[in-house]
Amino acid sequence: MKTTLLLLCFQLSVLSTYPFLGGAQEAVLDVEGEELQTGVAYNILSLLRPRGGLTVGSNRNNDSICPLDVVQAPLWVDSGLPWTFSPFNNDTVVRLLTDLNIKSSAPTICVQSLVWKLSDYDASVGRFFVTTDGVEGNPGCGTITNWFRIEKAIGRYKFVFCPSVCDIAKIVCQDVGIFGEDGILRLALSEFAEGVMFRKAAEDSKMIKNAADH
Ligand SMILES: *[C@@H]1O[C@H](CO)[C@@H](O)[C@H](O)[C@H]1NC(C)=O
Ligand SMILES: *[C@@H]1O[C@H](CO)[C@@H](O)[C@H](O)[C@H]1NC(C)=O
Repeated sequence: MKTTLLLLCFQLSVLSTYPFLGGAQEAVLDVEGEELQTGVAYNILSLLRPRGGLTVGSNRNNDSICPLDVVQAPLWVDSGLPWTFSPFNNDTVVRLLTDLNIKSSAPTICVQSLVWKLSDYDASVGRFFVTTDGVEGNPGCGTITNWFRIEKAIGRYKFVFCPSVCDIAKIVCQDVGIFGEDGILRLALSEFAEGVMFRKAAEDSKMIKNAADH
């Protein structure tokens, strides 16, 4: 019994120190088994069919729909926006447990950027949402709300808010899940992670082209 407990403690400490050993983290893989590349656009798809990919929608504020929140398209046929990932350390490969900026260059009616950012605490529902209007780069305490990680989850992957870019802030790491309200599926910090997978966004246009050829 004691041995088991000791072994468990040992395993936990190995697990929790592993990210700091200095070795490169494992690359995140897309649905084809290819490593995710920095700056290449991917659709972020839900493991939970029949839901669609990640896109943007109006925020919860009744005064203005901008900045847009990150939402999940309700229908699986909608792959959502193309998203790109930029690791804080300028790595060319997107790796697990590494702070990332996540953004889309899709045109919207809002002037704000489509860089993911954690919202202020919304006391009315007790949630932090994933909104946009973040800034890219400059890892540090001033940009702490702009960094998200990808971690392995059962099946595929999940997003986690757990920035390490600011040494002095104690962050309680939390998974990114879905907060559904009036039929809108917003990304929010949650005890239930949303399982996701990544597919090169270019495949969509290829599929459309193939369909047009036939
Ligand atoms: C927006 O309006 C709805 C309906 O009037 C109300 O229930 C909700 O609390 C409002 N939300 C905010 C953030 O003010
Ligand atoms: C990443 O690139 C930015 C912009 O070129 C640069 O300022 C920064 O020092 C780089 N960071 C690392 C860790 O190389």
